[in-house]
Amino acid sequence: MSIITNLTRMWLTRSLSTFTFTDQYDETLDFSDCENLGLYVHIPFCKSICSFCPYCKEIFNKEKLNRYTDALIKEIHMVGGQYKEKKKVTSLYFGGGTPALAADRLDEIIGAINDHFIVTEGIGVELHPDNVRPPILKKLKDAGVDRISIGIQSFLGKYIDVLGRKSIDPESLRQSLSEVPFETVSMDFIFALPGQTFDDLKYDINKAFEIGANHVSIYPFIDFSFTESPVTEMPKKKKRALMDSITGYLNEKGYCRSSIWTFSSDEDAKYSSMTRESFLGFGCSATTLLRDQFKINTFSVEDYCRRINSNTLATSLTDRFVKRQRMVYYLFWTAYSTRVSIDDFERFFGVKLNKVYGFEIWIAKLMGFITEENGILSLTMKGAFYFHYYEKYYTLSYIDKMWGLMRKEAFPRKMKL
Ligand SMILES: C[S@@+](CC[C@H](N)C(=O)[O-])C[C@H]1O[C@@H](n2cnc3c(N)ncnc32)[C@H](O)[C@@H]1O
Ligand code: SF4
Repeated sequence: MSIITNLTRMWLTRSLSTFTFTDQYDETLDFSDCENLGLYVHIPFCKSICSFCPYCKEIFNKEKLNRYTDALIKEIHMVGGQYKEKKKVTSLYFGGGTPALAADRLDEIIGAINDHFIVTEGIGVELHPDNVRPPILKKLKDAGVDRISIGIQSFLGKYIDVLGRKSIDPESLRQSLSEVPFETVSMDFIFALPGQTFDDLKYDINKAFEIGANHVSIYPFIDFSFTESPVTEMPKKKKRALMDSITGYLNEKGYCRSSIWTFSSDEDAKYSSMTRESFLGFGCSATTLLRDQFKINTFSVEDYCRRINSNTLATSLTDRFVKRQRMVYYLFWTAYSTRVSIDDFERFFGVKLNKVYGFEIWIAKLMGFITEENGILSLTMKGAFYFHYYEKYYTLSYIDKMWGLMRKEAFPRKMKL
């Protein structure tokens, strides 16, 4: 598995150097000149734990959530307060875990963000289907949230059972969503589950749009080494056929592909915490990508609170980039949107994309992975599938390894990827 990612890394960075993460971290983060900066806030609590889920979370406990929220607000002030001027940022996303468990304090968290940042493109929150009830939705809306994303996984009992989740009542979702509407209502589905057919997936997606979604995310199932899920992955050929049929179907219906995994029925519906040039992350396990570094906070709620309460950042590991590594990160994260702007790359790095990756772009065009029009490189359907497919190797070689270690050790000394 890691042979593929290692060779790709060496080729694209033109170097044998690994991505090396160490525990040497900065108390001051240099984000003042980052354009298109996004914000992410992590709430690591859930009412029950799903066996397939790799994210940093633990069982909800009110007292612990309150202590965590106090620390989170303090971290936002510690980082945001580094500069006098308020910094313009694109969007703010709350992920988890189950962020709605902190619904009573969301306005305080957003207040702390607003003390230091100006959010220009809206606020999004991930929801568990149990959270989709008018009183909770109203609280979110009153706090300024305009986008929600609901973790459906599937409406079909057979897949809900395989995943060990509770069944969902689409009618009750429809009612709540019509009572408290949001600009973007996204629904998450897991695809490539054992035995899943095109008709099953089509049913799920049609149902989502029918009951009030205007955006869907279709995540390929990933079997992480540290989760204890009984679910197995679908073979590549079947996955490709399923992905192509569902993409073709959604295109035919006139939905637009807003990223590798997402489709929307209306062009303005956006929900993506991934496709950013740079971002600041707050809370346990949150990552930060800046011009010169990528860093990740500790996965331990107790250690997070302890560090923040002693006035130090809870950064666990930091990777400091050489320029080519940063270029690879840039292309990888922006390609999630299926489009890379040649001008934006030059603005960010001060060098023409063609000059550094002209050969790779030529090959990718020749192989039918990308096309170029008006200065934008776009992934074709084939390119999107292979990006999707390659992303699995990246996830298993990098994310699986890093999260696996960080679940065991709050502050590892070093890690090479
Ligand atoms: C943090 S959860 C969503 C919010 C809420 N906690 C819930 O479960 O409904 C984010 C999404 O990641 C996706 N996900 C979780 N584990 C996955 C896995 N092993 N493979 C692929 N997608 C996964 C699911 O679609 C899930 O809705
Ligand atoms: S899938 Fe959602 S509810 Fe389940 S453990 Fe993960 S974050 Fe929690």
